[in-house]
Order: sequence, then structure tokens, then C-alpha cells
Amino acid sequence: MIWPAEAIWEAVAPLLPGFTLEVLPEIDSTNTELMRRARAGRAEPVLLVAERQTAGRGRMGRSWESGGAIPALTFSLGLPLNPANWSGLSLAVGLSVAVSLHPELRLKWPNDIWLGERKLAGILIETASIGDRRYAVIGVGVNIAPHVDYGLRTPAAGLQQLLPQVDAPQALECIAEALARSILRFEAQGFAPLQTAFHALDLLYGRELLCSDGVTGIARGVDASGALLVHTGVGVKKITSAEVSVRPTATHP
Ligand code: BTN
Repeated sequence: MIWPAEAIWEAVAPLLPGFTLEVLPEIDSTNTELMRRARAGRAEPVLLVAERQTAGRGRMGRSWESGGAIPALTFSLGLPLNPANWSGLSLAVGLSVAVSLHPELRLKWPNDIWLGERKLAGILIETASIGDRRYAVIGVGVNIAPHVDYGLRTPAAGLQQLLPQVDAPQALECIAEALARSILRFEAQGFAPLQTAFHALDLLYGRELLCSDGVTGIARGVDASGALLVHTGVGVKKITSAEVSVRPTATHP
């Protein structure tokens, strides 16, 4: 694959001093690698792209599959980050990636990007302490081709359903600069200024949800901190991503 490394570097380096971009043919996981580096004291801003991950990781200890013949775009952006409040960062990242890629994409709280009723992309954010600073590793996986059914999981959507000629390098070029800007804006201002933009792409709004803690209710958007609001029989429940995962109880074509 041919990656637009220079163009991305030129766009992102002025925003993140010391920024480097690395493309590896194969690694276990770009998140795992940047967390290893952070634990070894390396805190520079870096965009690490892998053409193939052998042990891609998802949220909640799940694995993340990169698809078949046409591999997914898999990368992690690592950078020192010091927001006053971390809540809503994954929503800010999802919003930036979705808006950069295509207007038909929607956001499934807390950090999935969906096309119709199928997941197109996922986000895994981890942090490490380096001295008295925090280093964030923001991992993004975007399916390029739709997955063929595997196991019991719902087949995933692919960006080529919307943009038939797109490949992983082009998708990264669409995402990278806007993502760096969004993260810096989040660091300065938090999630609150993004609440309206998130609402416009909110896949869950108005749908009946089943939370992994057993609570059911109707999704009513997110608050200024990015917590999901669920109307239950006994009032509004605020859900933070650390607590539960959610899934719609019914699908609407
Ligand atoms: C999820 O949907 O649960 C999150 C998926 C995150 C996948 C990306 S691919 C690049 C980075 N490296 C990983 O091992 N995971 C993230």
C-alpha cells in the first residue's frame, strides 16, 4: 500500500510539535505498541499505522478483527494530553472520524461509527502516566470492505459501500488532520461544544435500549459531559461508558 505520509505529516506536524508518522506492515496492535512505548517513557506525538494487526483489541477486552482480503484501516494516535475532564473524548473522536469520512455515517454511543444497522468503525482509547503527565493512545479501526459473515457476530459495514474506490491510505488522509484538531479542541474545551453536533448523528436517539446492567429505556441523547441519557420507567438514567454497554432492542431498516 502507498501511504500519503508526507501530506499527513505536513498537515499534522504544525499542530503537534515533534509529530512523527510510522507505517508498519504488521504488528500485534497499534494501541498495544504505543502503550508499550509510553510505559518505556516515550511521550512524543505519533501516528502509528499498521497494514495488518495480528492481535487487534476492541473495547471491554474484546478482539478486533481487521477483515479479509481488503484490510481495515488500523491506526493509533498517541499524544500527551491534559484535558480538565476526560469524559466525552471517545465521542469527540468518533464525531471527527465520522464527519471526515462520509455524511451518511452515524454514531453509536459511546464510540462506534455505524452505517445503517452495521458497525463500520470502532475506537479504543487508553491512557498511560508518564511522570506527572498523561499520554493518550487513541486507536481507530475503520472497515474498508464489508466483512463476510464470521462466527456469530453481526457482519460489519465497510466504507467501500459508500465510496467504492476508497482504500485505507485515502481514508487515513481524510481523517488525520481533522482528528488532531478535534483532539486539541477537546483538550481545551471538553465535550460540551460538540453536544449539538453529536446529537445530529446520534444513531440511538429515540430508540429503545437494553443496557448491559439490565436497564431498559429510551435513548435521549447525551449530556454536556457525553454521558448517555436513558429514560427508564423510574426516571432518567445517566450512563457513562465505564459502567455499561448498550444495544438497541429492535432494529429499524
Ligand atoms: C471497538 O470497536 O471495540 C474498538 C475497536 C478499536 C480497533 C482499533 S484498530 C487500531 C487500534 N489498535 C487496536 O488494537 N485497536 C484499535
